[in-house]
Amino acid sequence: MTAAALAGTLPKHASHEGISRMAPPRAQRVLIAVTGGIAAYKVPELVRALVRAGHAVRCCATHNAAQFVSPLVLQTLSGESVRTQLFDPEQEGEIDHIALADWADLVVVAPATADALAKMAHGIADDLVTTLLLATRAPLLVAPAMNVNMWRHPATQANVATLRARGVAFVGPESGMLACGWEGEGRMAEPAAIAAEAERRLGAPTLAGETVVVTAGGTREALDPVRFLANRSSGKMGFEIAAAAARRGADVVLVSGPSALATPAGVRRVAVESATEMRDAVAAELARCTVFVAAAAVADFRPAVAAKQKIKKEALADDAGLVIELVRNPDILAEVARAPGRERRLVVGFAAESEDVLAAARRKLERKGCDLIVANDVSRSDAGFDVDTNAVSFVTAQGDETLPLLSKREVAERLLDRVEALRAAAHDEPR
Ligand SMILES: Cc1cc2nc3c(=O)[nH]c(=O)nc-3n(C[C@H](O)[C@H](O)[C@H](O)COP(=O)(O)O)c2cc1C
Repeated sequence: MTAAALAGTLPKHASHEGISRMAPPRAQRVLIAVTGGIAAYKVPELVRALVRAGHAVRCCATHNAAQFVSPLVLQTLSGESVRTQLFDPEQEGEIDHIALADWADLVVVAPATADALAKMAHGIADDLVTTLLLATRAPLLVAPAMNVNMWRHPATQANVATLRARGVAFVGPESGMLACGWEGEGRMAEPAAIAAEAERRLGAPTLAGETVVVTAGGTREALDPVRFLANRSSGKMGFEIAAAAARRGADVVLVSGPSALATPAGVRRVAVESATEMRDAVAAELARCTVFVAAAAVADFRPAVAAKQKIKKEALADDAGLVIELVRNPDILAEVARAPGRERRLVVGFAAESEDVLAAARRKLERKGCDLIVANDVSRSDAGFDVDTNAVSFVTAQGDETLPLLSKREVAERLLDRVEALRAAAHDEPR
């Protein structure tokens, strides 16, 4: 990239949408949903830990949970009344169940019984807690706890896999002596570990001070005023990365090709159409950028000429096809990896491959000079373009890590964990 391009201002066609970001919003409202497992007796410790950390905590409990922990204890520690019933005019009058579902920034299900996991996986809403879990739009953090055989049962494992793929996060269970006398996996994670994971999900500002520039979506390369060459990218992966980085306190700029997705909270969106517009928009942000994530599916080629008027078939001979000459687009990722100030910046690329995925990603890492390549196999129907899940590998100079099929939201979190580790290692290096 030329110095002129780097110093360039935002092109006219790129529009800034939204807000610039101040301090990270510390989401603070935690709803703890307690279901009927013996580990419910530990929930008061969880309530205390989250209250001590400065969060507003409310609890709701199933009828069976109230056998294991007194709602009065939860109410005393949280300072809020505890809802246990759906059809209770008094409780519903105080805060109706939908308002409670909407109130939460995070819902923690602890302990989560096998029964609760099954109902969540199947969208069953037959009491207050399961209705809230279906109604809320807040992220869910689930701490399962049960007998080892219940945990290992294929039904429970299938329910967990369904929930994971839907973006639900899990903490535990741990292995050890269980209250039922069996030994094995099934013990609820310790309240301190659940609280720590909740804090992380609430957006502990671990990326404060970083300016993260994310490209997302596909590009459109104009053939004429009405037609363009495009690709199947929806932008979902890049939008999730931008959202996750904002939750972690980074200043986030999302340079996006055309996408119907809503701009995530706290993210500044720069809308572009073509690869060259995307390159210019990235160049305008690069001076401040400390982490660059190229998740966009940028067209490698564009028509050499975009016709000023609509191309008419009548203008061609009756039997003639249309030959379009394509020229190369700028390689945004490689340009950023070579741009001045590289030592201050972490560069992450994506490699969407349909065969020999890891080998192709390793070659891309070297050829483009990136710090990390996220390789995804777009030949799978449950990963890659326009689906909510992704199966990726992280490829760095130190080696590869292949993740299971996860929601794109979870992939974004894992990627940012990696980014944080690489940034920390870079800071520790002698200068
Ligand atoms: C003493 C006792 C302890 C129990 N502990 C658990 C447990 O740890 N995990 C679990 O999934 N179920 C446990 N159960 C069974 C659940 O309480 C039962 O499946 C119930 O229907 C769950 O209801 P809920 O999910 O609506 O709270 C236990 C039952 C009893 C009687």
